[in-house]
Parts: sequence; C-alpha cells; structure tokens
Amino acid sequence: MIGRLNHVAIATADIEASAALYKNTLASEDQVSAPKQLPEHGVTTVFIDTGNSKIELLEPLGDNSPIAAFLERNPAGGVHHLCFEVEDLESAVNKLTAEGYRVLGKPKIGAHGLPVVFLHPKDFGGVLMELEQVS
Ligand code: CO
Repeated sequence: MIGRLNHVAIATADIEASAALYKNTLASEDQVSAPKQLPEHGVTTVFIDTGNSKIELLEPLGDNSPIAAFLERNPAGGVHHLCFEVEDLESAVNKLTAEGYRVLGKPKIGAHGLPVVFLHPKDFGGVLMELEQVS
C-alpha cells in the first residue's frame, strides 16, 4: 500500500537553530528552505531536500500547536512522524479501519496541500504515521 517516504518530520523548539545545524553540517545551503509559517496547522516548517525524500523541521506556532505536547515530553526535540505516500487515501483508511487500526480523525488537507491522515503510534510500534495521497 505505501509508496515512497515523503518526509521524516522532526520537532524542534528552535527552527532557526535546527535549520542552521543542517546547513552547517549535513546539508548544503540550497537544500534547506526558508522557514514558512502555517497558522492553520499550528507549525512553522523548514524543508531539507535530500533528493529521494525530505526532512521536515517543525516548530510550534500559536496556542494549539499539534506538536506542543511532543516538545513538552521531548524538550530537545526529536523524530515526530514518518510520512508515506499512498495512491488512494480513502481505500487505505477503509482497509486499516476495518482491520482495527486507529486512524486519527478524518483525512484533511495537510501542510503540502494534499489530503493526509495520521495513524495512532500505539498501533505502529511507537511511531506516528502520516499517509499522504499524492495522485
Ligand atoms: Co508530515
């Protein structure tokens, strides 16, 4: 069902510092995007283009950020979720739900303007999974 790894999301309390870390070490300047505020998602993002995938740095934005609780538990930041591409999100959701896996809410338009859903980390070995429809 899943296709390519779209991104690995890393939560950080200081996105400027995290972006600088990549620019100064593992990535070149042109692989690291400028910060972008997404108020409707409660995050500021920076993307690091790795060629075959992306790292998505996430910093909380506003009061009800979906990553605030994660950063309370992990003040130094860390891997927040993995996002895999699927061809047909609705059929993926129907299949997983029928098999008893917990889908968190209804599919909605994600940070890249495409439909996404999240799957409960307790059903996936402690990893929060995001599925993104790409076709
Ligand atoms: Co994501």
